[in-house]
Amino acid sequence: MAPELSETVHGDAVPDSLVVVSNREPYSHERGDGGEIRVQSAAGGLTSALDPVMQSQGGTWVAWGSGDADMAVADEGIVRVPPSDPAYDLKRVPLSEAAVQGYYYGYANQVLWPLCHEDTGRMWAEPTYWEQYRAVNEQFAEAVDTVADPGQPVWFQDYHLALAPRLVRERRPAATLLQFWHIPWPAPSVFQHCPHSDALLDGLLACDVIGFHTAGYAEQFLHCVDNAFSAATVDTDAGTVTRNDELTRVVANPLGIDVEGVRDRARTADVGSVRDTVLGGSRSDTSVRLALGVERLDYSKGIPERIEALAHLWDRRPDLRGEFTYVQKASRTREGIAAYRRYRTDVMEAVERVNDRFGTDDWQPIVYTEATLDNETLAGLYRAAEVALVTPHRDGMNLVAHEYPVACVDGDGALVLSELAGAATHLDGALTINPHDIEAIADAIERALELDEADASDRLSRLQHSVEALDSAQWVARQFSAGQSP
Ligand code: G6P
Repeated sequence: MAPELSETVHGDAVPDSLVVVSNREPYSHERGDGGEIRVQSAAGGLTSALDPVMQSQGGTWVAWGSGDADMAVADEGIVRVPPSDPAYDLKRVPLSEAAVQGYYYGYANQVLWPLCHEDTGRMWAEPTYWEQYRAVNEQFAEAVDTVADPGQPVWFQDYHLALAPRLVRERRPAATLLQFWHIPWPAPSVFQHCPHSDALLDGLLACDVIGFHTAGYAEQFLHCVDNAFSAATVDTDAGTVTRNDELTRVVANPLGIDVEGVRDRARTADVGSVRDTVLGGSRSDTSVRLALGVERLDYSKGIPERIEALAHLWDRRPDLRGEFTYVQKASRTREGIAAYRRYRTDVMEAVERVNDRFGTDDWQPIVYTEATLDNETLAGLYRAAEVALVTPHRDGMNLVAHEYPVACVDGDGALVLSELAGAATHLDGALTINPHDIEAIADAIERALELDEADASDRLSRLQHSVEALDSAQWVARQFSAGQSP
């Protein structure tokens, strides 16, 4: 089993100034209808976790400039962010429309995303996707050259950039290169569905360190390498690969959140007004209890099963009708792909069906919102909810599962968590379920609403402790110190 890194942190391993490279940028500049320029924060775990790290550490973040006013506000592609309190440089890589179609909507999100979430029926690999994926990885490698000093470590993020490490290595043979893979790594029997499996592994193995959220993903990666390259020496106990005189350390390094930041925002949140805003027309007095789900409208998130489970519960327990409302905070995502557009429609129709079936004049069972919520409002919403439902089919980690318990500063709150999310490996105290088992999800929601005080408080404090142990500052230190291990 690849080693967990908790014992091996060297505090001084983190460079004073970081260079990180990801597809998604933390802030985009968008032009409104009247021509005014607005700043938008990205949805998704990667940016929400890395942004506080970059704010405290400083350095340069290289990412696709996806906003339509991004380049207008940048100087040679560089803009200081966060706009309200600049702390680091964001270097924007402009991508052509063909590149976005082939690399982002194509290879990254119709090949690698379903592959790694073990949903191979959704894979679609047109030849241009791979060509564009390679070309964009080259573009990122060139951008790295313009911002990183020769001796500076470069830290790649996620599945969009599997080839870039090799391309940078060719330019910088002695550089320290790291990669963190934020989504699951599939079983070898699934990975073999990928038409470019060897090239992807070769790209990644140019890194000195590759991090995954769990030891299970790291181990599956090592098995894939072992299957692919007979000349490689793979040591699964040590978590190392030696190939062509290159040594790569493969480590389990679970990502966490900025614990203090979330807790502070929850403490200062105006919970009453968040309730009123989110519940809108629905009954918003304090008597209705809230359950909450927060996610991008991604087919890996298990939202339809969750809605079906809620319907099941309200069906078999009429006394719970009017007792609690489920708030679904959803973010639109990857809508250039038909499967994502269909998923959104399916979710919205399911919400409507349940509301038609069980709703009354003064109670709306499900409140669905796509409103953009700032971090303060989101923390208030977490705090207002008595139960959070995180039920993905598969998820690299899932940071909502981390944020929710930390935001429960009043000492109440229960988490229903899919056993197939990476978070289930690390968090203690959740009510875990199989995300396809509708009956079990319904049972877990019912249980969460009826936990006795001692059990509820014990579970919440176990959750909070396990999240605290994975604070994102530790994650960075662990990743860099792995590169210094003997
Ligand atoms: C997941 C991925 C991230 C990605 C995020 C949002 O968390 O691991 O790399 O940024 O989803 O998806 P998007 O396609 O909008 O960047």
